[in-house]
Amino acid sequence: MSTVTASEAAYVVAALLFILSLAGLSQHRTSRSGVVWGIAGMVIALAATVGLASRSLTATGLVLIVLATAVGGGVGLWRARVVEMTGMPELIAIMHSLVGLAAALVGWNGYLDVDAELSGSLLGIHHAEVFIGVFIGAVTFTGSVVAYLKLSARINSRPLTLPGKHVLNVGALVAFVALTVAFVASPNMGLLIAVTVVALALGAHLVASIGGGDMPVVVSMLNSYSGWAAAASGFLLANNLLIVTGALVGSSGAYLSYIMCKAMNRSFISVIAGGFGTPAAAAEEGEQGEHREISAEDTAELLRDASSVIITPGYGMAVAQAQYPVAELARKLRERGVEVRFGIHPVAGRLPGHMNVLLAEANVPYDIVLEMDEINDDFAATSVVLVIGANDTVNPAATDNPSSPIAGMPVLHVWEAANVVVFKRSMAAGYAGVQNPLFFRDNSQMLFGDAKQRVEDILRALDSLDAPVPAMAGTSR
Ligand code: TAP
Repeated sequence: MSTVTASEAAYVVAALLFILSLAGLSQHRTSRSGVVWGIAGMVIALAATVGLASRSLTATGLVLIVLATAVGGGVGLWRARVVEMTGMPELIAIMHSLVGLAAALVGWNGYLDVDAELSGSLLGIHHAEVFIGVFIGAVTFTGSVVAYLKLSARINSRPLTLPGKHVLNVGALVAFVALTVAFVASPNMGLLIAVTVVALALGAHLVASIGGGDMPVVVSMLNSYSGWAAAASGFLLANNLLIVTGALVGSSGAYLSYIMCKAMNRSFISVIAGGFGTPAAAAEEGEQGEHREISAEDTAELLRDASSVIITPGYGMAVAQAQYPVAELARKLRERGVEVRFGIHPVAGRLPGHMNVLLAEANVPYDIVLEMDEINDDFAATSVVLVIGANDTVNPAATDNPSSPIAGMPVLHVWEAANVVVFKRSMAAGYAGVQNPLFFRDNSQMLFGDAKQRVEDILRALDSLDAPVPAMAGTSR
């Protein structure tokens, strides 16, 4: 078998492994094997690509490939080992930026190094591919860099509202189409520089116009863009696996964006158009009434007397790393015969599936971890809800205040329960910067402090409630 045939066969195997990987990642139970399929696919893909390239490779080329693989693999391994779960969206965003940059550079290379055998309409198609690759790659690059800066709080997460921002976006797209037509008719470096600049500016503007609350959709949308950028590179490099993989990432990212838009009640079309920044509605600042506080000991008593408990975790649980004591609390309460379940909002935390990963890490049984839609009707019949470091995802303003910046976003209806205990450190607003009227409801009480410490306090208080009462002095004989 020739190297080409063997490599092409290996590509088919790698593509199937990537599909298996996506299927595995779609469920908690199979997600670990999904990761293993993905790694296996990537190893095969890398080996096959080096095999294909080796036909025309000099010794220097081979050394460069080995060096690049070692440096890239080393940096990837290092970052993946040290990243905190809460820092994953930033890491993903910066990785997307590299995919975008690579696609733009491949596009430029396609212009500088045209295959001498191409002519006529094939040459026109090649030039269109160059332009599209550079455009998608450059948009993904700057968009991802701005998303990284916003997610890591290096720049303000409020939406940038330039006058006529939609006109600017549409104008950039029109300019891209016009420049593509001109470039295919008469390719020259000036036009390529122009489209690169337009795309870099469009990517930065698209993401800068989006408010913090919509960042989850941005991350998955950039994931999709990076997939299409890789597919565009695949056409330029005539690499089938890159086309297949890019299309898989592009379409799964687009589908995830669609699901998230539905979960956040955003219009998918306006998301794709990039004009979905949080409207400049005034966020209700300041307190909206009196709040009541509760101690860990009183919370323990409330839980001891409860028949059903729902725990709704959020970003604060991740920050506090409270998942282990929370899992322990759930276990203890279940041992006492209390029905305990977890209610997971699709965008709780800072990345899709964030809460599920933390709870799985702490060995919370999958069957008591329910999605928002599965549990939302059950709050009204629940004795106690523990809101652990969640804020925007349990904000009733989303359902009853049309002028709220998060109006229309589906939320967990925790306020319908008999008692709500909110774990947080202060009265500060959540990620979207919106005050939460839940904190001022009659059935809500605040348990201030670090979520991990407070849950541990509750565990101790539950133990002491169980401990036999020491006999009073003088009553024993
Ligand atoms: P948030 O609205 O972000 O609120 C988290 C709360 O946790 C804050 O109010 C904070 O209050 C509290 N907190 C922080 N550290 C804590 C600690 N150590 N102990 C106790 N409490 C702590 O949380 P959420 O309900 O999970 O909502 C997620 C938000 O992030 C949404 O707006 C969503 O759109 C956005 N977002 C989501 C994603 C994805 S894909 N999930 C990605 C990016 C952005 P204190 O400061 O007072 O303690």
